[in-house]
Amino acid sequence: MIELLAGGPAEIDWERVRADAPGLHALAMDICENGLREPIRLDPYGRIEDGVHRTLSLWLLGFKGDVPATRPSPTPTGYEEGAFWKLPHLPTITETIREAMLQSGPEEWENYWGWLTLKLDTASIIAGDPFLEWLHSRHPFRCGVLSMAPFSFYGWHTDGRRGVSINMLTDFTPGRHSSMFALPRDQSRSPGRFFELDYEPNRFYLFNNQIEHTVVNYEGNRFVFSIEFDEDRDTLTFAQLKREIEA
Ligand SMILES: [Fe+2]
Repeated sequence: MIELLAGGPAEIDWERVRADAPGLHALAMDICENGLREPIRLDPYGRIEDGVHRTLSLWLLGFKGDVPATRPSPTPTGYEEGAFWKLPHLPTITETIREAMLQSGPEEWENYWGWLTLKLDTASIIAGDPFLEWLHSRHPFRCGVLSMAPFSFYGWHTDGRRGVSINMLTDFTPGRHSSMFALPRDQSRSPGRFFELDYEPNRFYLFNNQIEHTVVNYEGNRFVFSIEFDEDRDTLTFAQLKREIEA
């Protein structure tokens, strides 16, 4: 079947298409003149939800390029919005962090909840970053760089203390890694589904520590700047802080 479709039509009698399937003919002619006006809409499993006739028309036209298509996330609506949020504020602290890391000795990297962590001087980090200054005045925090060794992972968990944090992946080292949130499941050992936080480097992300999460790091060291608020999960939540920042 796939081979038949991939081979494409040998010859098209467009007069016959016009007589037998006038709608399909009109659509094919429209695509010829104007291109595809709307992308084909797929369901989360890659099946065509809207655009069967346009796909048939493209096939009749012998189209061989990439067909524009949209495919929704398989994650039910609302989960991603409740798990993480890329903040609109552009950080100005990257070079300060890089400098602090370069100046640091190995003895300054401590084990903190299983993470090899370099604690940073909060005052010098927030100086010159209007957003962090504003945030710190309302919700005091500490901050540091969390390091992950190549081919290591942090197991699925929800944080015992933190309700919300802010993370920023650095681009100091190349590498491959994956941060994931789980959809609700009955027991921690039962199979589950997940969705990914695909960090854009050098951007702040509000992170809901009360949704089960994990991170896997492949080759390369992974360095993430992270903010830990003095307030705990009972006094500062993801939803609360998101509302406050958006306002
Ligand atoms: Fe965590």
